[in-house]
Amino acid sequence: MNKRPVIICTDPGIDDFIALAVLLQQPQLDIRGMIALSGNVGLPITVNNALLAGELCGRTDVPVLAGSATPLARPARNACNIHGASGLGTSVERYSNRKPLAQDAAEFIVQTARQFPGALEIISLGPLTDVARALTLDPAIAQLLRQIVVMGGGIKRGNATQYAEFNIVADPEAADVVFSSSAPVVMIGLDATHQCLQPRSQIAEMAADTELGRMVGLMLNDYADMYRRVHQLEGVVIHDAICALWLLQPNLFYTEPMRVKICLDNGAHLGQTMAVTDGAPFATVAMGLDAEGVARRIVDEVHRAVIQ
Ligand code: BDR
Ligand code: CA
Repeated sequence: MNKRPVIICTDPGIDDFIALAVLLQQPQLDIRGMIALSGNVGLPITVNNALLAGELCGRTDVPVLAGSATPLARPARNACNIHGASGLGTSVERYSNRKPLAQDAAEFIVQTARQFPGALEIISLGPLTDVARALTLDPAIAQLLRQIVVMGGGIKRGNATQYAEFNIVADPEAADVVFSSSAPVVMIGLDATHQCLQPRSQIAEMAADTELGRMVGLMLNDYADMYRRVHQLEGVVIHDAICALWLLQPNLFYTEPMRVKICLDNGAHLGQTMAVTDGAPFATVAMGLDAEGVARRIVDEVHRAVIQ
């Protein structure tokens, strides 16, 4: 069986970390690299957390690259209110001794896309800055990618603001580059992810008495505390892990083809993903999911990762 070449762009981030634990253990995926960029927390911290994920998941063979420290055209935002200053909650702060690969992230994406024409899949779990930089550096790669899977956006709602989702509003110009490109884009946004609110009882099922298992338990309980405080929700929406399931079991999602435009106007709607009737190429947009099936698969995958 040919393994599927994949690049993960990520800003860990509690839900990113869980997604990495899921993806790094998949034998059918050939993870060519993890690009950590500024998002939930600043660049040095996301790089550290991606290195840590590789280490704790027994995948030090997967290179980590330092992506962008700032969005394309705006100052960086963060989501420390949800992920804590360490990016991994308020109970976990850990440092890796490993170093990222010294290569420009956009060049790495371009080089990998050219190495695997028609096959490379990019999954973006944070702002789209480095994916956009790659598409700008070499626009022809849009035709070479198998898909760009984006955790981000929401046709009917936002979370960072009333109308905008965090990953999109964190770098709206980058999202605009990606959604206006001719690459096949799949959007797994809040319309789908918010249908899968996982209770604390499932956090207990994901944790285990191993180094990674204890960390997962602490991180997700912190995440649940912050969800209660910030979003007044009981339970957690593990957005990035839900998005990761698109690579493993796409039939868990209900999708619609849609032209998606990113609002770039400063003001209340900045970063909104708007369904329009013309002027943008079609994307595949997840508007729903099988909540029970998604929750069960996440619990099973995470549990499998932490007991290894
Ligand atoms: C997204 O924003 C980040 O805070 C999470 O890691 C996730 O990627 C959810 O809106
Ligand atoms: Ca993320």
